[in-house]
Amino acid sequence: MTTPPTTLFGYDYYQNPYPTFNWLRENSPMHEFRFPVGDIPMWIATRFDDVHQLMGDARFSTSPAWASKEFTEAGMKVGEGTAVEQIITMLDPPDHTRVRRLAMSTFTPRRIAEWEEPTVRIVEEALDDLAKQDEPDVMDFAGAIPAQLMGRILGFPLDRYNEMLHAMERAFHTDPGHEDDSRRAFEEIAEYGRDLIREKRRSPGDDLTSALVQARDGGDRLDEDELVAMLAVLIMAGLDTTRNLIATSVLSLLERPDQRELLVERPDLESSAIEEFLRFNGGVAVAFFRFAKEDMDFAGVSLPAGAPVIAAIAAANRDPRRWPDADRLDITRTGPRHVGLGHGLHNCLGAALARLEATVAIPALVRRFPHMRLAMPSTEIRYDEMWLVRSIQKLPVLLHGDTSR
Ligand code: HEM
Repeated sequence: MTTPPTTLFGYDYYQNPYPTFNWLRENSPMHEFRFPVGDIPMWIATRFDDVHQLMGDARFSTSPAWASKEFTEAGMKVGEGTAVEQIITMLDPPDHTRVRRLAMSTFTPRRIAEWEEPTVRIVEEALDDLAKQDEPDVMDFAGAIPAQLMGRILGFPLDRYNEMLHAMERAFHTDPGHEDDSRRAFEEIAEYGRDLIREKRRSPGDDLTSALVQARDGGDRLDEDELVAMLAVLIMAGLDTTRNLIATSVLSLLERPDQRELLVERPDLESSAIEEFLRFNGGVAVAFFRFAKEDMDFAGVSLPAGAPVIAAIAAANRDPRRWPDADRLDITRTGPRHVGLGHGLHNCLGAALARLEATVAIPALVRRFPHMRLAMPSTEIRYDEMWLVRSIQKLPVLLHGDTSR
């Protein structure tokens, strides 16, 4: 075979990217291909060492200001023409350093510690809701947790949560012809951030939005556009990622009764289990685009300045050069670190929160319903065509292992 088993970012790839990732890692680790939106030339890195290097290498930028002409002309800039254009993930130093420092100053240890009690309560309530249904969808459970928690943390009921999820699906779609809708979706997300800030200026509370509005570093503070961009990124980064980490982990456990039993019986394995879920199928498939800032040789290929390169996080995390038996889920693994929460300058700002939510939600679900099983064959589970996050459409379960079906 001289081409990958599925077309990158095509329907079959989204359903299961791992055969393609495995093929690329062995046959074409820095693979040149054409991205379906805009049909532009691009590279994708799949080996751990290359992905790790790419995410931490100052010769690359996430800012579209460095992107190739083809990339820019294809309208590929994330959130172009909206406040999302300026989100932290796309800033270079020194702007990135400044905005990140101001944002980090609001993620204080006290604040993070205070999130634990509401997380436990929200998970309990979500489990009670689940128990009331005949054939509940784990996606509802998985989605309710970050939505309610982010609502509480940001100090606003996220009653437009479903709209937001839908907007994100539209924003990160890879179907050609969706560019206008994608731009509108980014604007809707930014507008939501603007609403939050307006509300918090009117009546500040002990929440993250109010803290961000007031955050200062010496005489420095976030200006209005930076605040909108920060809210937009927190809304985008905090919901679907966590929802899918919870869901893919639950699916992995339903498919592997031995691992599930182990997690039920051994609470001491919770934290290694969460790291393994992040490695094995951590929700985020690929990172934001990186652009070569100069002509260079990287991982055995020559890249022209402006070349867009994708760091395939999910591929790197299954690299057998780094983990023995990398395609096997093993919640007892204590091996080397994964890149499920990124690496380098842009590593995940919400990592502590992501770990907290997953650590509370996943073990609680499998313990509460020890006989739960899938209500559909796992081969029929479908994923959305979203390039950043691996997003399951539906995950119906039978809570009490009803064998009549
Ligand atoms: C399971 C859940 C999560 C996963 C798997 C995840 C993963 C990631 C990854 C891989 C990156 C790096 C992206 C890149 O370099 O292109 C990242 C960045 C980021 N994440 Fe998360 N994330 C999660 C949850 C959260 C939460 C809950 C928040 C906020 C409350 C958050 C906020 C951010 C932000 C703001 C950045 C950008 C940081 C920067 O550019 O400096 N994430 N995340």
